[in-house]
Amino acid sequence: MLILGLSNMRDAAAALVHDGKILAAAEEERFVRIKHVTALPVHAIRYCLREAGVSLADVDGIAVPWKYWVLGRRAALAVGAMLRSPTLFRVKGRRGVERLSQEWAELAFLGSHLRERVGPSRHRPVYLDHHLCHAASSFLVSPFERSAILVVDGASEAHSAMLAVGEGREIRVLKRIELPHSLGQFYAAITSYLGFRPDQDEYIVMGLSAYGEPRFARLLREQVLRLLPDGSFRLNTTLLDFHLARVRIFVPECLRLLGPNRLPGQELTQRHRDVAASAQVVLEEAVLHLARHLHRLTGAENLCLAGGVAYNCVANSRIRRELDYREVYVQPAAGDAGSALGAALWLMNRRGWLSHREVMRNVYLGPEFSEEDCRKALSRDGLAWEAFSEDALSDRVATELERGRLVFWFQGRMEWGPRALGNRSLLADPRREDMRELINAKVKLREPFRPFAPSVLEERAAEYFDSPSLSPFMLFTAPVLPSVKGVIPAVVHMDGTSRIQTVGRDENPRFRRLLEAFARKTGVPILLNTSFNVNEPIVCSPEEAIQSFLRTDVDWLVLGNLLVRRPSYVIRETRDGPSVCDE
Ligand SMILES: [Fe+2]
Repeated sequence: MLILGLSNMRDAAAALVHDGKILAAAEEERFVRIKHVTALPVHAIRYCLREAGVSLADVDGIAVPWKYWVLGRRAALAVGAMLRSPTLFRVKGRRGVERLSQEWAELAFLGSHLRERVGPSRHRPVYLDHHLCHAASSFLVSPFERSAILVVDGASEAHSAMLAVGEGREIRVLKRIELPHSLGQFYAAITSYLGFRPDQDEYIVMGLSAYGEPRFARLLREQVLRLLPDGSFRLNTTLLDFHLARVRIFVPECLRLLGPNRLPGQELTQRHRDVAASAQVVLEEAVLHLARHLHRLTGAENLCLAGGVAYNCVANSRIRRELDYREVYVQPAAGDAGSALGAALWLMNRRGWLSHREVMRNVYLGPEFSEEDCRKALSRDGLAWEAFSEDALSDRVATELERGRLVFWFQGRMEWGPRALGNRSLLADPRREDMRELINAKVKLREPFRPFAPSVLEERAAEYFDSPSLSPFMLFTAPVLPSVKGVIPAVVHMDGTSRIQTVGRDENPRFRRLLEAFARKTGVPILLNTSFNVNEPIVCSPEEAIQSFLRTDVDWLVLGNLLVRRPSYVIRETRDGPSVCDE
């Protein structure tokens, strides 16, 4: 049986599941080139169907991870807000109307939109509980027969977190945290307070937090985010409200406690770093509080995490280190894109069609392009290439990396989830102290404090990192051993940790061969690995890879087995659009 899962809210995505097997999954942003796009994921759906060689009419069910009609709780909150502040009421009202008119209407008319834009179908969409879909997206592809499940995000239909237990194919809900008390919204509000984009730049705040002292943590614990003995928490929205923060309105009391908020582009001061550090530590404590309570409720040995807050790899790592769970699993698309996959799996399960559970061990579920496609794309841009055998290519690329060159590495199927894990990656030598500055200068116009992550041969991770557990999806951090900090300075964050990707023997043989070749030459089984994009979603096709390559000063582009040297001209962004210049 075939089920299509799709989400047309923020982080729109589609996934196609056949019995227990995931055939394809992709985020719409990669096709339409708009980060976190909210849209009917037409391109992602078409890709999934094409990958399986079927049409929408062949699909046995369409699953959507939102019950759009559950509005009562949110409407009540908006009315409650009116009593507190007319400004808040206006903001909530406007947002409510926006959501009702756009997103929920899109959900309600999804069936007809699908028919118009993708093709006829035998089935109407089935709308499912958002947090149950998150839970299914992690537990049903985890290696555990029994596991506690913790879902934490900004908001579902009426909740912000869910504690559950999974056994076999069943998921039993134990507790839910109701809106407006939301860890995701708390962190998003702080993100906006610090001058970054809420619901998008939280990872920047997490990176920044390593540079600060949590001197506001006590204040936040006492006045903003209080942990309760029953395992839940309360958010004081009169001090820090997510909806007001989105439009950068902060109540005077909040500004008195934390100081003036930062506007985008303003200088980052030590106080801002300290606020980031404080919010981070308070968030970690709250997530640990939930996970600890869940352990008491279930006695489970394992934990599955899902929801946008599960991208906070520092919090994930503290759970692993400090709580009594033996193993922690996070599905790589932990955020709302992943809920599309969860919806497909959950509907499959509810209908009794989930013949078996298959563990998700890699993320390569997106589109793949042939060598012919790559050659054609290169020819169109007049670029010369050199073709290699696989082994010779690894060797050659490793040599270039060893020389300090930067390499765009484009291989096989695109990654599912926000991390580039060796198929759409920018790679560099982690041993060079100046590599961060070099990458920021040549490619990424990004904040200099943001860390770069390492990919490491799994069996050699313990030589560099303190008790590293498996982290195939870059969703955990590990302390770098003091003795080797100087060996790989480009991938050690300010707090002495790295967000590692452990590369095992089977998940990505080609990327592994490159790591092995680099280890043979340098003795270091590690590469700096960041995503293949330049202020845009990660590239999907060879054409996008080439365009990104030409807009940067990166030395080499690898498309499959083709090696492309940076040409002697570059495309520069000008006020009138891209223009070709000789160097
Ligand atoms: Fe969510």
